[in-house]
Amino acid sequence: MLTMKNKNYFRKAVADMAGYTPGEQPSGDIIKINTNENPYPPSPAVTAAINGFQTASLRRYPSARADGLRDLIAEMHGVKRENVIAGNGSDDLLTMITRAFVSPELPMACLDPTYTLYRDLAAMQEAKIITVELEPETFALPENLLEQAKGANLLMIPRPNAPTGNTFPLDTVEQICRGFDGMVLIDEAYADFAADNCMRLAATLQNVIVMRTLSKSYSLAGMRAGYAVAAAPVIAGLMKLKDSYNLDAVAQAAAAAALCDRDYFNGRINKIKETRSRLTGELEDMGFIVVPSSTNFVFTRPPKPFTAKAIFEFLRDRLIFVRFFDRERTRDYLRISVGTDDEMAKMLAAIREFMKK
Ligand SMILES: Cc1ncc(COP(=O)(O)O)c(C=O)c1O
Repeated sequence: MLTMKNKNYFRKAVADMAGYTPGEQPSGDIIKINTNENPYPPSPAVTAAINGFQTASLRRYPSARADGLRDLIAEMHGVKRENVIAGNGSDDLLTMITRAFVSPELPMACLDPTYTLYRDLAAMQEAKIITVELEPETFALPENLLEQAKGANLLMIPRPNAPTGNTFPLDTVEQICRGFDGMVLIDEAYADFAADNCMRLAATLQNVIVMRTLSKSYSLAGMRAGYAVAAAPVIAGLMKLKDSYNLDAVAQAAAAAALCDRDYFNGRINKIKETRSRLTGELEDMGFIVVPSSTNFVFTRPPKPFTAKAIFEFLRDRLIFVRFFDRERTRDYLRISVGTDDEMAKMLAAIREFMKK
């Protein structure tokens, strides 16, 4: 029998932590629009890469630094291999980045609301968190962000932000990066659905890391692949902190195939943006406030007297899973991933039914 001698041997920080709660992953005949997955399958080139994968090669370790993949990514972004690190999903990169720059002496600055994993990672490092509140309603960056974030060694800026879906002006983000005395992580998990991105800043500023994932825009959430671009010394530092073989061989092959099929990628991105704008219009017609989205989801507030929680529960009973964050700044809103046109029609019909009750 496992005995702990009535004593808790965990570090206090770990014992006190609630731990990150990922979005629900139900399966079956459901509409799953709760974790911003892509409603479309990955490129046929990914299927071909996996089907053609030489399983005999699995007896060997994969490329420890995923060099083939890094070269491809470097070429895509006009940088060099030493400017790129690959991750087992971008969460893996977030772990390395917080280990590298955050400690009890070195605080992390986070927006609120934002991707909640950042806080959990800071807690693991026993680091202080400086919270920078986004503006009410618009979820814009506050003008005095630099003042508020002062003293932090790592500033997390998801652009576009999650769960709010809005983006921040590029020149404002550049000024912040130039003015901030610490590292800035620009988390571009959703940038492929936006009009612009910050990749140029990673190539020109020494304190900027730009991170991407293949989970959303490349339909590879189940594969786990992401990457970060930064100055060579920053990448070299992060390499010291990664798991030895953090990206398995199949994931390296699949990720490369997905990145190379630009036509498929562009087609799906355009389709999702089209569905997003129709969804936004329909929700607005029903009286919902929709935060302008640069992502593959919308963050939306139902009209009074309807509450986000009641709609969330009503949809859930009908096996339509959207996301509801029961926290002060977010509990008036639902986050709905952009699915297929059919999924959106069913979800909207269910909301109409709820509002008629
Ligand atoms: C802002 C943001 N960053 C990073 C991630 C992590 O993505 P992954 O680990 O699948 O690459 C997510 C996932 O939802 C996200 O919303």
